[in-house]
Formats: sequence, structure tokens, C-alpha cells
Amino acid sequence: MLDKIDHIGIAVRDLDAAMARYTALCGQAPGHLEEVPSQKVKVAMFDVGGSRLELLMATAPDSPIAKFIDKRGEGMHHICFKVANLEAALARMTGAEIEIVQGASGEGVGESRVAFLHPKSLMGVMVELVEQG
Ligand code: CO
Repeated sequence: MLDKIDHIGIAVRDLDAAMARYTALCGQAPGHLEEVPSQKVKVAMFDVGGSRLELLMATAPDSPIAKFIDKRGEGMHHICFKVANLEAALARMTGAEIEIVQGASGEGVGESRVAFLHPKSLMGVMVELVEQG
């Protein structure tokens, strides 16, 4: 089972410019800023009710976010669902023939562990799964 929508990830070119715009949209500054070296991104998280928006800017040309923006421009990059047990969720995805892009080795924002599912298995939508540490 998926617990809830944890956040929606949005790929941006300029994090400062995007933060200013999304601070205006959300009515408050981001609650959390972090660089995630393993994913080669800098992120800003905005709290929206019980969910969040995640702005992602690449920190290297070979970052997945840089590649995404090169191909498709800025915009919605992924939906992230919270799960209680990442390994159990991934085993279920494998059983359902949903392709896993990056397995449970991925470290996410804060103490979380994340995995990504391929958009071609999910009608064009990249899905992230997160288990909070
Ligand atoms: Co995310």
C-alpha cells in the first residue's frame, strides 16, 4: 500500500528564481533546503497542508534533473509516495512488472531512503517511493 502523496517534484533551472515564485504561490518560504550529492541536486521543500512541493535544481551536468530539463524543459518531474517499507514496495513493483530506475540504495532528503520507478511503466509519470528513516 502507498501511505500518501509525500511530495510532487518540479525540475527548475534556477532555484533562487523558482523559490521566489513558489514562495509567492504557497504564501510562505520553503520549510527545508538541502543539497543531496548522491542525486546531484539542490532541493527546496514547501509544506502544503500534509503534502509538499519539491523544487529540484541540478548541481552537475550529468544530474538526472539536468538531463530532464535538456529534453523536456522545466516542469513536473515526479510524484513521490510515502511507503512504510521500501523493500516490500519494490518487491511488489517487480511482481507487477513496473521497472525500477533506481533501487532502494538511493538516499533522499533528510534521513529518508528513496527509489524511483520508470515513467514508461506508469504512463509517462516518474514515481518516487520514500521511506522515512
Ligand atoms: Co522527490
